[in-house]
Amino acid sequence: MAWMAAVMSSWLMPFTQVAGLIPGPWSDPSLSAHERAHLLVANMTLTEKLQMLHGSEDGRSECMDNPRCAYVGNIAPVERLGMPPVNMNDGPQGFRSPTSLAGTSTAWPSGLTIAASWDEEAAFEWGQGMGKEFYDKGSNLQLGPGLNVARVPLNGRNFEYLSGEDPYLGYRLVQPVVKGIQSQKVVANAKHFIQNNQETNRAGVSEEVDERTRFEVYYPPFEGAVEAGVGSMMCSYNKINGYWSCENPSTLQSDLKQAINFEGYVMSDWGATHSMSIAAGLDVEQPGAAWMNADLLRQALEAGVVKENQVDESVRRILQAMIQVGVMDEPLSAWDWGKRLRNVTTSASVASARRLSAKGTVLLRNEGGLLPLAPGKRVAVIGLADANAIYHGGGSGSVEPSFVSTPLQGIRDAVGDSGTIVYNDGRDVVAAAELAKQSDYAIVFVGTLSREDFDRSSLSLDVGTDWIGQNEAVSRIAVYAGQKTVVVVTTPGAVLLPWSRQVAAVVTNFMPGQQAGNAIADVLFGNVNPSGKLPLTFPNSENEIQFSAAQYPGVPDSKAPAYAFYTEQLQVGYRFYEAKHLQFKTGFPFGHGLSYTNFTYGSLNLQDNSGGGKIVTFTIKNTGARRGAEVAQLYLEFPASAGEPFQLKGFAKTKLLEAGEACTLQLHLRPRDLSIWDVATRSWSQVGGVFGVSVGSSSRDIRLRTEFSTTILV
Ligand SMILES: *[C@@H]1O[C@H](CO)[C@@H](O)[C@H](O)[C@H]1NC(C)=O
Ligand SMILES: *[C@@H]1O[C@H](CO)[C@@H](O)[C@H](O)[C@H]1NC(C)=O
Ligand SMILES: *[C@@H]1O[C@H](CO)[C@@H](O)[C@H](O)[C@H]1NC(C)=O
Repeated sequence: MAWMAAVMSSWLMPFTQVAGLIPGPWSDPSLSAHERAHLLVANMTLTEKLQMLHGSEDGRSECMDNPRCAYVGNIAPVERLGMPPVNMNDGPQGFRSPTSLAGTSTAWPSGLTIAASWDEEAAFEWGQGMGKEFYDKGSNLQLGPGLNVARVPLNGRNFEYLSGEDPYLGYRLVQPVVKGIQSQKVVANAKHFIQNNQETNRAGVSEEVDERTRFEVYYPPFEGAVEAGVGSMMCSYNKINGYWSCENPSTLQSDLKQAINFEGYVMSDWGATHSMSIAAGLDVEQPGAAWMNADLLRQALEAGVVKENQVDESVRRILQAMIQVGVMDEPLSAWDWGKRLRNVTTSASVASARRLSAKGTVLLRNEGGLLPLAPGKRVAVIGLADANAIYHGGGSGSVEPSFVSTPLQGIRDAVGDSGTIVYNDGRDVVAAAELAKQSDYAIVFVGTLSREDFDRSSLSLDVGTDWIGQNEAVSRIAVYAGQKTVVVVTTPGAVLLPWSRQVAAVVTNFMPGQQAGNAIADVLFGNVNPSGKLPLTFPNSENEIQFSAAQYPGVPDSKAPAYAFYTEQLQVGYRFYEAKHLQFKTGFPFGHGLSYTNFTYGSLNLQDNSGGGKIVTFTIKNTGARRGAEVAQLYLEFPASAGEPFQLKGFAKTKLLEAGEACTLQLHLRPRDLSIWDVATRSWSQVGGVFGVSVGSSSRDIRLRTEFSTTILV
């Protein structure tokens, strides 16, 4: 009853009675967030501090009517100081309401779809749009963005991640995303730090990975988040080199907090803790395990195992993030848990989701200029286009929207009265092929799904949905109607397209979100000229990267893979394809993506940058007949002595260029971009020698090349 009374009173007396943080020395806006947080900690009692280091129980049914656990995660407020609670919620791609909660939120395109845009403005718009919905739901911490580099093509969470298979792509795109989220006074959470690169046995596997590989391949997206001022990070379920991620002093302390200089706080993934881990660099333990609650922390302090200055530092990190992002500047009513039931989807968010999904759509093939489709025709729509359409993956990265724009409806709306649309779900291959044959165009929607906690068992489209036989269906349709067939592939990551050269056009939108249908119709009918590029390789065959069982899923055996060895080191994704000179027969290379117009590249020029490094300029001209934008990519070849693969080190998207219009792009190669991680000095070390600079439209479509040499004075 006492508990009930406490709940009732905080319910009946909403936080609106308190304006916010009480005034004190920490209120001085001329001080840094670090100094202000430090002063605030000095005012707190030990009890107040300890309660902040273990999140309260999450989203269980008995907790739904308690402000302490109304969201997926909570840190209770310090009411004496007028300090707000931390209301944290899933996920990286929009506000996920547990099913028992009402109120709309937008299912945005997934992280991988945004990665495919290679567009920093789009990334900002995505972060800002999601952040606004979190704010409107009373949540001041978004459990995202997801950043892990797609080492394992089968990884069930690749759709959530902004990096695709490239650390530089993730490094660049995460910065506007974090700034967008945090512009809404919502703290972002970069996850999952680190090496959570497979879901198979994720809570048991030890990722055996050397320091140089960590710094060069896996940390850069998280480093980008730090540069953008991210307030928090989440440590992962797996072990790294034998130590659990959330109690790993090498990765959390030496690497993240010291070398990368992360100033925010580290929280555990739910249930990812195994000990009292504060000294190893964990700041907040989330529910699902209890090794670091107030009682255990107090005992550890009394036993001298934990020092009070460690507690102070962890609390300071939490408060600093809240002050820096502006959470503390809002009235407490902003973070009222009652807001979680609101409808926050708006016509503006729906329009943005549509625009972003189209920007992340990649045109893989377009023989004979079949696309964009002409109006006034008979169009056969086949496959996963109706209520069966795929629009998001599963797990904490899922969002149930209030409505979904299906491809069938999107195409109907785009065609209007001018043409005829006929639909077949594709299960009867003969009927579907006949329908395609009798139509001017056939648009076949295929796809597969994945979710948190599971890897896909295969890269085939015939695994992951209940439509087994998708490949056979496309192949059959191609026999009768290949020259007028467009295949749209909706996929959570890399996928095999064995029939890709037998159909005229292939498009992928990864996981497009609730505006799937309108966005794909925008591209197919030419309202949007596609400019997306593949953020990961589409292979020719299963396990083309030749992973042994020891690399993935790990040994000693597939049922209990205790160790996954990163013996490929830097040769991840397309870097392996380059090293082995693999050709693309049915797959498509990293960075590939066509347009409805054509671009020519010219006038490559290199200059020394006054601050070190190089400035690379070149021109791009739209030589086709339609307005469009191009994403130009810069790949660097290091001097052989550096032992570095061919790798992305620059990209830029042009503005929309009219037919015949040209522009000049400028890319910066920073000294850091010409460096390797030196394990001996634990720092970035610039390489001397001859570098090759390749600029082009994909990793396999290089249009311009030059060289320069550097001398390093020791
Ligand atoms: C905490 O701050 C309040 C308000 O400024 C002040 O009255 C109080 O003395 C401070 N207490 C401590 C322990 O610093
Ligand atoms: C929220 O949206 C749903 C439809 O998705 C509607 O039924 C409900 O009335 C709306 N609630 C409010 C408060 O507007
Ligand atoms: C220009 O683009 C069209 C449409 O993508 C394509 O069919 C054509 O081959 C391109 N022309 C050149 C010269 O690249």
